[in-house]
Amino acid sequence: MSKLSSPAHRGFTVRGHLAFVLADVQTKKSWEFAEGAAIVPGRHAVELLGGGRRYEAYLAWDDRMHALVTVKLLRPHLVSDPGARNAIAGEAEALRALQHPALVRCFDADLDGERPHLALEFLDGPRLSTLIRRHGIIVEQLLPLALELSAALHFIAARSFVHLDVKPKNVIMSAPPRLIDLSVATRLEHVADLASPTGTDAYMAPEQCDPALFGEIGPASDVWGLGVTLYEAISGSLPFPEGDLTAAASGARYPQLELEPRPLGRNVPAPVAELIQACLVKDPAQRPSALEVADIVEPWAARLPQARLGLFRPGGRVRRSIFEGR
Ligand SMILES: Nc1ncnc2c1ncn2[C@@H]1O[C@H](COP(=O)(O)OP(=O)(O)OP(=O)(O)O)[C@@H](O)[C@H]1O
Ligand SMILES: [Mg+2]
Repeated sequence: MSKLSSPAHRGFTVRGHLAFVLADVQTKKSWEFAEGAAIVPGRHAVELLGGGRRYEAYLAWDDRMHALVTVKLLRPHLVSDPGARNAIAGEAEALRALQHPALVRCFDADLDGERPHLALEFLDGPRLSTLIRRHGIIVEQLLPLALELSAALHFIAARSFVHLDVKPKNVIMSAPPRLIDLSVATRLEHVADLASPTGTDAYMAPEQCDPALFGEIGPASDVWGLGVTLYEAISGSLPFPEGDLTAAASGARYPQLELEPRPLGRNVPAPVAELIQACLVKDPAQRPSALEVADIVEPWAARLPQARLGLFRPGGRVRRSIFEGR
C-alpha cells in the first residue's frame, strides 16, 4: 500500500501501521465479475482493468450506449461506507467540473444505488507506468506527453482544483495521452481540510508530505507530480530513493523532504533535464507553473517532425536536431 490518504499520518506506531496494512490486504474485497456478468443492469463486465484500495475499474459493455465504457465502482465491502460514498461523490463532482481533452471524461455516475459507480469513457492504451517498465520512452515521446499533462494541469489549476495524484499509473497513453483518477482531486479552497498526507508517497510534493514545513498544497504540488512523472518516464527510475513505509512522517518516510533529486543521465538533453529539475524544487513558489512548463515545451514539441518511427532511433536524425546548439 503506497497511498497515504488513509491511516498513515503523524503519530502512528509501526505496529499499528503494519496491522493496518495487513487488515487492508485482508479486507480489500473484489467483485470478481466474470465476463458478461451484469455489474449493474445494462452494464456487463468484459474484464477487470485495475483497482486500488477503494475501487475496481472494469471494462464493460453498455447496452444503452452500445459502447465500451469503464465502470469504476466501490469495492463490495465499501458500498455502505459513508467515507467511501463521500469519496466517490467527490470524484464525480471533480469529473463534472474538469472536462478537458487530456483528462478522462465521465458519462454518468450512480452514487445512490447499491453499487455506487462512475461510467467513464474507456481509454484504449497502456498505462505510462507499463510503458516505462517494458520499454522506456524517449525524449521525442516525452515532449508531447509533457505538453498534454501540463495543459491538463494548468486547466485543473484554472478551475481551482488540484489533482494530487499525478503519476505514471494514472496516465493512459491513448492518443492523446490522458490523465485519469480524480479520486483525490480537491478544490483549492478545501486543501487545508485534508486530514492526512494525500497522494502516493513517491510522487508527493514536500508540501503534500508536510504542509507545516513547506507551506500550503496548491497547483505547484501537481507540477512536482509532473516532474517526478517525467523524470521516471525518461530515466526509468525515481528521483529519490524509496522511503520507509513503516517510518513516521519524516525524511525516512519521505526522502523528498530532505534529499535533492538524483541528477538525470547525460542521455537526457540539458534543457529537458533542467525543466524537470525545476519542477522538483522544494519551495513550491520557485517551481514553474504548469502553463510555464507548457510554454517551454511547446516550441520543442513543434519542432518534432511528423511521427516517423525510423527517425526516433537512438542516434537518429531527430535526436540530434531538436536541441541543436544547446
Ligand atoms: N477510463 C479508463 N480507461 C481505461 N482504463 C482505466 C480507466 N480508468 C481506470 N482505468 C484502469 O484502472 C486502474 C485503476 O483506476 P484508477 O486509477 O482510477 O483507480 P484507483 O482505485 O484510484 O487506483 P490507484 O489507487 O491504484 O491509483 C487504472 O490504473 C487503469 O489501469
Ligand atoms: Mg489510480
